[in-house]
Amino acid sequence: MAVRGVGRLTCVSLCAQRNSRFQRPALRPLSCPGTVAADLRREEQPSGSTETGSEDKSSKKRFSEVQKERREQAQRTVLIHCPNKISEKKFLKYLSQHGPINNHFFYESFGLYAVVEFCQKESIHSLQNGTHTPSMVTEAAIPFRSRFFNLKPKNPSNQTSERSCIQSSNQLPPSSKKLFELLCYAESIDDQLNTLLKEFQLTEENTRLRYLTCSLIEDIAAAYFPDCTVRPFGSSVNTFGKLGCDLDMFLDLDEIGKISTHKNIGNFLMEFQVKNVPSERIATQKILSVIGECLDHFGPGCVGVQKILNARCPLVRFSHQASGFQCDLTTNNRIALKSSELLYMYGALDSRVRALVFSVRCWARAHSLTTSIPGAWITNFSLTVMVIFFLQQRSPPILPTLDSLKILADAGDKCIIEGNNCTFVRDLNKIKPSENTETLELLLKEFFEYFGNFAFNKNSINIRQGREQNKPDSSPLHIQNPFETSLNISKNVSQSQLQKFVDLARESAWILQEKDKDRPSPSSNQPWGLAALLLPSVANMKSLAKKKNKRPASERIKSLLDSIKSNSTENSTSTNGKRTISTHT
Ligand code: CTP
Ligand code: MG
Repeated sequence: MAVRGVGRLTCVSLCAQRNSRFQRPALRPLSCPGTVAADLRREEQPSGSTETGSEDKSSKKRFSEVQKERREQAQRTVLIHCPNKISEKKFLKYLSQHGPINNHFFYESFGLYAVVEFCQKESIHSLQNGTHTPSMVTEAAIPFRSRFFNLKPKNPSNQTSERSCIQSSNQLPPSSKKLFELLCYAESIDDQLNTLLKEFQLTEENTRLRYLTCSLIEDIAAAYFPDCTVRPFGSSVNTFGKLGCDLDMFLDLDEIGKISTHKNIGNFLMEFQVKNVPSERIATQKILSVIGECLDHFGPGCVGVQKILNARCPLVRFSHQASGFQCDLTTNNRIALKSSELLYMYGALDSRVRALVFSVRCWARAHSLTTSIPGAWITNFSLTVMVIFFLQQRSPPILPTLDSLKILADAGDKCIIEGNNCTFVRDLNKIKPSENTETLELLLKEFFEYFGNFAFNKNSINIRQGREQNKPDSSPLHIQNPFETSLNISKNVSQSQLQKFVDLARESAWILQEKDKDRPSPSSNQPWGLAALLLPSVANMKSLAKKKNKRPASERIKSLLDSIKSNSTENSTSTNGKRTISTHT
């Protein structure tokens, strides 16, 4: 589900540039100020302090609480395509005629967009009632009243002169040049891992935009299923998402048909007349098929809709142009939602977990171990489970096993999905913090050493029991699905991809060990620690060389001669084996 495509966000700061290293985009105060003047005041949010990643125990909210709050916030929010030249003050004044605004931000994605959160849901109806459907000259418009608007100035010439300073929220990860600079100037490897986390994690605005996009899709699906819910899952909500990751959505139809009143006394039981189909899978395919059609025909901003209904988990894939998200919509996929909750729990238990996962994910991406298209390679989900498993192996363990989380569960936590026991404690405060004090530097090195020497040929990774187990089948990499225990989440991974992972892990463990001895001075601009790990590897170069050797001899001789001729030009590997990187693009 990690396919990316069109509609990438290209955000630029229109007036004020961010100059601080870890400065987060400016945010509106979260309380409802009631006045536009108050709303215009910008406040800084400390970096990485969204409610999902904090160390502070008192702020550790349950996954369901976060989802509920975000969902409710998204329902009071609208998305507006704005003219490029706009006075922010006038814009807010214009909108506040429909009710007080709680929060807003701007971003760029092939045009300027505003995300505006009203204090009350009623404001949205007021805004919709004051909005007209455009009449086209050559085309026809489908009159759908969504929460995605287009704002046009009544008098464009006036607006140009009155444009005020608008700061756009950045929705993209840092460029590799900036990342390498930040990493090279970090004080320690631990500092490097935390820096990478801060730069890549989803921002508050990006998270809001993800929930809003789900909410907009829910409005469309509600045309067929009025009580449905569209919930984000996967890396958008499990706290392991990098800026730019896909948006996995779950169309939840379970609330439909649930009895909401108690007026069911008497001798009868009333049921809905429904159509029956031969299996749950066929029902899923039929539902997704009509929703896919609906998104394609009526969904403002939904483009490139593909119905992938024969996959193991049927889905509708599309790009949501205005947000720039590549979306995968599934239904009947409740277990994936539960595993997102489990990962959220693990991410919140110890601050080292997310830092380590982000670094391993970036490392894997830098070496093309993971890609944006499905295939025989390892996925981010598998890598995350591998990090969790590794942290369960430490002494003392940094993370508890899933079985021990199940023991801590109370009656309210009980959860059985399609016969699978998905029960685990959901109150984070009931879990004792780890006494392990190992540094991130040590953990990263040990992670590579551990998996560089793991007996993949005979053992399976199992976070439920927190120990290696005999592999039940012959797949090269076996990682047990935490809830559907008969499934292997890395069944797709080929032997050659696994070998590439092992080679790179060994090489990275070695680099970290070597770099310990002679850390360069910051001014030398020499990549060290984590920065050195993100460079093209020797293992990669060897495989490139192998590929090159497959070319005809004449071609190889020609390129050899060429390379001798241009030998004086830049080379990514210096003679002493230390790799250097030019930060000039
Ligand atoms: N999932 C699963 N079993 C798999 C693959 C995925 O249960 N074999 C669930 C996981 O909960 C995962 C979610 O589906 O988090 C979404 O899958 P995917 O998009 O592939 O992974 P993400 O965790 O979202 O990571 P990425 O950032 O690469 O999208
Ligand atoms: Mg995903």
